[in-house]
Amino acid sequence: MSIALSIIYLISTITFVIGLKLLGHPETAKKGNFISAAGMVLAIIATIFLHDFEVPSTNYILIGIALLIGTVLGWIIAMKVEMTKMPELVSLFNGFGGASALLIGLVEYGNNIGDVMQSSTVIAAIIIGSITFTGSLVAFGKLNGSLNDIRLPKYNLINNILILGLIAFGGYIVMMGNSTLLIYVLLAASLIYGLLFVFPIGGADMPVVISLLNSLTGIAAAITGILLDNMVMLVGGILVGSAGLILTFVMCKAMNRSLSNVIFGAFGGDAEVGGAAVGKSGGSIKKTTASDSAILLNYASKVVIVPGYGLAVAQAQHVIHELELLLTKKGVDVSYAIHPVAGRMPGHMNVLLAESNVDYDKLIEMDDINPQLPNTDVVLVVGANDVVNPAAHNDPSSPIYGMPIIDVENAKHIIVNKRSMNAGYAGIQNELFFNTKTSMLFGDAKSALTELVSELKNM
Ligand code: TAP
Repeated sequence: MSIALSIIYLISTITFVIGLKLLGHPETAKKGNFISAAGMVLAIIATIFLHDFEVPSTNYILIGIALLIGTVLGWIIAMKVEMTKMPELVSLFNGFGGASALLIGLVEYGNNIGDVMQSSTVIAAIIIGSITFTGSLVAFGKLNGSLNDIRLPKYNLINNILILGLIAFGGYIVMMGNSTLLIYVLLAASLIYGLLFVFPIGGADMPVVISLLNSLTGIAAAITGILLDNMVMLVGGILVGSAGLILTFVMCKAMNRSLSNVIFGAFGGDAEVGGAAVGKSGGSIKKTTASDSAILLNYASKVVIVPGYGLAVAQAQHVIHELELLLTKKGVDVSYAIHPVAGRMPGHMNVLLAESNVDYDKLIEMDDINPQLPNTDVVLVVGANDVVNPAAHNDPSSPIYGMPIIDVENAKHIIVNKRSMNAGYAGIQNELFFNTKTSMLFGDAKSALTELVSELKNM
């Protein structure tokens, strides 16, 4: 490798690390993303033009066409995607990452590999790339609602046997030496395993699985980095792999689930995910109006807003900020309670509220806001459901039992805005709605909050 290329790879690697660091805070995340992307562009251009092997000029044309198609498609998809559909997009991108790794593995295998180390790396790239590819496609299908959970009888046993079989088969191919037939059998079996691995996992666990697959994509990229003797690919892959794994565990912790429980359990399987409310809560609910809610908020001294997935669906982030500013002007102390898995992706609420320029100091993490709730006059829950469901504390039979929640029932008054009595993502009823302190403000978040703002303005 030329010195110039090594230096550029080093610069790119540094931009990845700096970018990742900056991504850790909403205020610097955009800059971090830009810096890493610039480093990636630099690495791609340098790889194309500064490598030290002969390339026929027609290959440059092919590379150029591939880059153009990829860039245009990526740009269009990223510009068009709605925030709530982001996990689907990430899932699709993971799939492409896996497909690239498996294709590189196949090409390198064809290039006649020599030692055991090299062939083990190729086999690992093919197995991990294939699992990530088909697994991500299934995750994509589940997230957009076109695929349901599929559980074969004894699926855990079948999957465990299959993965052990795959590893053993891979080892056998390494020992046997070059065999194109066997490599294609391995490829087919790995692709099938990817499907079987994600088919049974419950819909509500999909974001965790996507994060896990993301981490696998990173590992696959790192392996291809070893194969191609490409340092920047290796480091980039390791960064993605480790960041994805950390995120996976953070999410599991926030949902109080172990990773094995996510993979081998069946959360969300028996419940109707996103369907009508089911559960044992009975009793009556108290409906309220925008004008009654405005009076309650107007005379409160401390208000906590709990945003959830519905706020994102309604795109009500701007109007909620307007409400917050209005109340603050009236002397009310307003803050937002942020649950780590509110919404459909990590940091969803932070990103959403950052879009409307909400002051970051107003976003209070769950562990910090919970002790403040007994002194809170009004909690306004907007489009959140599971993350405020007391069943997580009170009902050992509930699928979310043990999940840390925002303890809104400790506040003096609770206003819940949602469109109906339908359940949240976990598909379970919420006894909070039947609490005597709770008033239900039914309606789409954007219109309900707009009405609330205009009522408050008239006070
Ligand atoms: P959910 O429990 O999914 O509840 C969202 C509520 O918003 C629904 O009950 C829905 O009720 C309401 N809603 C939908 N559209 C609305 C609109 N236009 N206006 C007003 N309300 C609307 O959301 P959450 O409390 O944010 O919890 C997130 C869930 O996702 C948790 O179960 C969590 O475990 C799961 N999850 C999240 C993540 C990450 S990383 N965020 C990862 C894995 C799993 P109506 O239909 O009645 O309006």
